[in-house]
Amino acid sequence: MVDVSKILNEALRECNDCADLDSLDQVRVKYLGKKGEITSLLKQLGKLSPAERPRVGNEINTAKTQLLLSVEEHRKILEKTFLDQSIADETIDVSLPGRGNSEGTIHPVNLALARIEEFFIGLGFDIGEGPEIESSDYNFTHLNIPEHHPARAMHDTFYFDDKLLLRTHTSPVQIRTMEKNKPPFKLIAPGKAYRCDSDLTHTPMFHQVEGFCVDKNVSFADLRSVLLDFFQFFFDKELELRMRPSYFPFTEPSAEVDISCVKCDGSGCRLCSHTGWIEVLGCGMVHPKVLSGVDVDPENYTGWAFGLGIDRLAMLRYSIDDLRSFFENDIRFLEQFIRN
Ligand code: PHE
Repeated sequence: MVDVSKILNEALRECNDCADLDSLDQVRVKYLGKKGEITSLLKQLGKLSPAERPRVGNEINTAKTQLLLSVEEHRKILEKTFLDQSIADETIDVSLPGRGNSEGTIHPVNLALARIEEFFIGLGFDIGEGPEIESSDYNFTHLNIPEHHPARAMHDTFYFDDKLLLRTHTSPVQIRTMEKNKPPFKLIAPGKAYRCDSDLTHTPMFHQVEGFCVDKNVSFADLRSVLLDFFQFFFDKELELRMRPSYFPFTEPSAEVDISCVKCDGSGCRLCSHTGWIEVLGCGMVHPKVLSGVDVDPENYTGWAFGLGIDRLAMLRYSIDDLRSFFENDIRFLEQFIRN
């Protein structure tokens, strides 16, 4: 019969050498499993003489118990080591300095928008929005631009198909708002608009704010005074404002608004092409046809509306001369805008 203590010593050595739970289990199976070396020793007891059996049997059982205890002990040690290790690995040392975290800044277009919203919220306006993928009905027809009307050609439209397009302005929000609610309306609707147009001063996507106010006794004079107050607030200085007659199918009368140049205060410079004036928006009194189209009685209600380009206002306020820098996301450019 083999030497039990030799097997036991070998088993104990292997057990202590185990560096992980899997190999420890393999050692257990190798010696104590159904076909394990120690288990098979027990099975061979029958071959011994009855005189030897009790002693050897005792020896094997002692070895078995000893190995079992040793495996259990080693298992506990391994488990604790792994637990300690994973606790150590997962610990976050909150006292360590961050890895080059720098604070973000607000995009100048958003800075400008925040100022616009601040002004109009102060006047009691709501802020609304509408979809950028619009139907030609909302983008044109309900705004008094019927099919085949030349004004449709004024907007270089991105079409998906006959009916769907990328909105060319924020004016469809006027219709969507009035259609769903009852007057009075006082709302600004900022958002993206798209035109198939790209050069130094135009990008195919740009930002507009639609503003409109519909109530009893709303006049063109109200529009003018709100706009003047707005631009003085936005640029934080006294300004002149002038209106030139213009044409939009959804307003009548319509006007183009200029403000005195924010750089030279009207004396003439490169920014204003030496005219002293800068064109900033289009506006007018909401066309009676637009009102009646959304069940607002034009005999009882009047309203004004304007649409302004946020990008241009941001350029003027923050003295940015290239529109494209807004969309290049160069961090060195964006980091400069920490004021409002
Ligand atoms: N929607 C017009 C444009 O984008 C601007 C506008 C809005 C004009 C509201 C008048 C009234 O050109």
